[in-house]
Amino acid sequence: MTVGGPAGSSGGFDAQPGARVVITIDGPAASGKSSAAKLLAQRLGIAYVSSGLLYRGATLVALRQGIDVADEGAILALLAEQDVRLHPEAGGNRVTVDWRDVTDELHTDAVDASVSVVAKHPRVRAWVNDRLREMGGSFVIDGRDMGTSVFPGALAKFYLTADPAVRAKRRAGERSTGVEAIATELSRRDERDKRQSVPAADAVVIDTGPLTLVEVVEQVLTAVLRVLPARTVNT
Ligand code: C5P
Repeated sequence: MTVGGPAGSSGGFDAQPGARVVITIDGPAASGKSSAAKLLAQRLGIAYVSSGLLYRGATLVALRQGIDVADEGAILALLAEQDVRLHPEAGGNRVTVDWRDVTDELHTDAVDASVSVVAKHPRVRAWVNDRLREMGGSFVIDGRDMGTSVFPGALAKFYLTADPAVRAKRRAGERSTGVEAIATELSRRDERDKRQSVPAADAVVIDTGPLTLVEVVEQVLTAVLRVLPARTVNT
């Protein structure tokens, strides 16, 4: 049987009938986990899922309504009223709010500055985790606590990390803000996220600092192929 992800996967390897493959890639902001997870998913022909986008979606609806992001009850009420959905698609993930695509609004400085406050709320975390656990099929998922809390039984787990200066430089290439401001924002986010950002005991930890994206994915793929039941991988 060809295993497929939630949507848009091309079915690149054969697993045993009924088998579901979940691979987790966790790590701090700008550690390279999203790029690696996307490329790995493509190589395996399964879906890519970004858990961070759900936290960003929850943050966006709160900011749009002008509510205090420290107010967990108000955020929960909004999430009950508005339909915030993650759509894993072949080239990336999209988020809709009441079926309007808001993906392009999720990586602004305003969302970056508030998302880790929103992500601290236990009931917001439970809301995100329920959405992720509802997803069927096989996928590579990235985040902070995918291997520890959400998918502890994942087939393979990875934790990507890099020196803060390397991460700030990388992120500066994706944003209009200067590298120093980004370094400050990243270290604030690292501090707020540190509780849920611990590598799983059985995760393979990779320092991506000295590696190219392709080298990271090669290392990950080699480890995955050791544990995959049966496969033909896209090249
Ligand atoms: O992955 P990304 O950096 O876009 O995630 C944005 C924020 O969402 C993180 O800084 C963190 O606060 C939160 N997050 C989380 N747990 C996850 C994924 C993201 O707390 N699994």
